[in-house]
Amino acid sequence: MSESAHCEQPSNGHLPLPSRRPTTLSTSITDSNTQREHGRKAQLSNIAAARAVADIIRTTLGPRAMLKMILDPVGGINLTNDGNAILREVDVSHPAAKNMIELSRTQDEEVGDGTTSVIILAAELLKVAEPFLIKNMHPRIIISAYYRALEDALEFLEKNTQPLDIENRDLLLDIVNTTLGTKFTARFGNLVSNLALDAVKTVLVTNEGGQREIDLKRYARVEKIPGDYLEASRVIDGVMLNKDVVDAKMRRHIKNPRIVLLDCNLEYKKAESALQVEILKEDDWDKILKQEEEYIESMCGAIIALKPDLVFTEKGISELASHYLCKAGITAVRRVRKMDNNRIARAVGATIANDPRDLKESDVGTGCGLFEVKKIGDEYFTYLVECKDPKACTILLRGASKDVLQEVERNLHDAMAVARNVILDPRVVPGGGATEMALSCALAKKAKSVPGAQQGPYREVATALEVIPRTLSENCGANTIRLITELRAKHSIEDGVDKGFNFGLDGHQGTMTDMKVLNLWEPALVKTQTLKTAIEASALLLRIDAIVSGMRSDATKAEAVRQGNAEDDEETFGDARDG
Ligand SMILES: Nc1ncnc2c1ncn2[C@@H]1O[C@H](COP(=O)(O)OP(=O)(O)OP(=O)(O)O)[C@@H](O)[C@H]1O
Ligand SMILES: [Mg+2]
Repeated sequence: MSESAHCEQPSNGHLPLPSRRPTTLSTSITDSNTQREHGRKAQLSNIAAARAVADIIRTTLGPRAMLKMILDPVGGINLTNDGNAILREVDVSHPAAKNMIELSRTQDEEVGDGTTSVIILAAELLKVAEPFLIKNMHPRIIISAYYRALEDALEFLEKNTQPLDIENRDLLLDIVNTTLGTKFTARFGNLVSNLALDAVKTVLVTNEGGQREIDLKRYARVEKIPGDYLEASRVIDGVMLNKDVVDAKMRRHIKNPRIVLLDCNLEYKKAESALQVEILKEDDWDKILKQEEEYIESMCGAIIALKPDLVFTEKGISELASHYLCKAGITAVRRVRKMDNNRIARAVGATIANDPRDLKESDVGTGCGLFEVKKIGDEYFTYLVECKDPKACTILLRGASKDVLQEVERNLHDAMAVARNVILDPRVVPGGGATEMALSCALAKKAKSVPGAQQGPYREVATALEVIPRTLSENCGANTIRLITELRAKHSIEDGVDKGFNFGLDGHQGTMTDMKVLNLWEPALVKTQTLKTAIEASALLLRIDAIVSGMRSDATKAEAVRQGNAEDDEETFGDARDG
């Protein structure tokens, strides 16, 4: 693919091509609505857009970060400093800006943290490319230099990560606290970190091959109930649902219940196709009702035969069925969400059945210690707690208001993601900009050995990495130039070894500090993902050499198709003539 060739460029002293065909082509393929930007203009406009996006969230990086207040279209407000949560709500029209916002979302999905860093770094990488583009360097050279720097950076990181003992809870807490230290919940000490660690440890399963698996999305659910204090939040050793039992007479407190889970209706189903029944005699009506009753009775009979104490179903339960179940001393809960049913199944060791008549003894869950229904505020909540080995959990968040709870949930999500990352890949690197500074110095040193035109952009990647410590320092009001110079000197590389690898900045005091003293550690996975995403995204944006935009209205669509056909004809004719 060639990035440089487009029709407006001068032909570099070659004989001018016959101009008829290119001119007719370029004027006929787009209509007057369509806007196009070419070559360097497009690249510079992309860079400007990316920097504009980064400027929105620049002040939200680090422990002294500012919050943003975002009004969503339905009038709600979000108070947050989470990069992804902010950008998600921002409505941008420039395609490059949209691409940047997508980056932050990807980072959030992949590793859950570093969504602000990735945007700031990508924008900086684009900014340092600008002078080279203006000097007419081909983007391809810049991109190759970037990828080369990425490879070297990853190799350097690989060598300098430190292993972590994941059985040591204090060390894990330090890492989760580094992530939460930049968030609203930092003021609550270890509270949210403990919640995150408990939740992640609960859903952790190690399969036979020794592989660890943590599926937070499916098995850890956050339930927010306004009221009480944040300190009342806890991880429930089981599942909690916003549901009540179907009949007031059913038991609401059962110890060691036997639990049956269903995903079918316990009511008479309507036929799939329209069905008409003609009744001639009065008795026939009774017969039909009887049939329905018998059907329900047989379904309930199959359940009762297993002697459960509790029945949960994802569908409905008719009054008649609830009567049979109640009579047999069984408590029933209906219209449970599919995801909740899966969580219950995992927590109590039950299997979800589609037809009660297929139920076996092994499908009954007996892992739960206590079932109870409690009223909080105006609503009833069903608790299945004291589970023996739950492997699924509900995190109950309490707090003063809905806005606060939403921010706590976002913070908890970051914390759980970091805990998961570090348990799956127990390697850490120092935070506080130390890793970025070390990488920057290592790349700057290596740049000298990079041959040819790539050397310049390669060295600029090293400069761009300083943006993280620089922004952290700016956000805490420190003397940035002095601090960065100090850090750079500390990280100077002797005999191929970075002597000050652990030195970064204390985001509260604005001074250079050893991260070992501050206990600021971040998962290596988050750092490598941030680097990869930022460099790959900036390289992708640099490859763009034209932006075409324009709305196709329905009226012009047909015209465009007709024109397209005409062009095809012309082109075929031309090709035929050339050939
Ligand atoms: N006490 C601290 N002093 C200095 N730097 C810190 C401190 N705590 C965290 N950091 C640094 O702050 C950066 C993370 O900031 P922040 O959490 O605001 O953004 P993010 O993780 O990139 O994005 P987000 O958390 O919004 O997804 C990391 O580089 C981390 O090393
Ligand atoms: Mg963070």
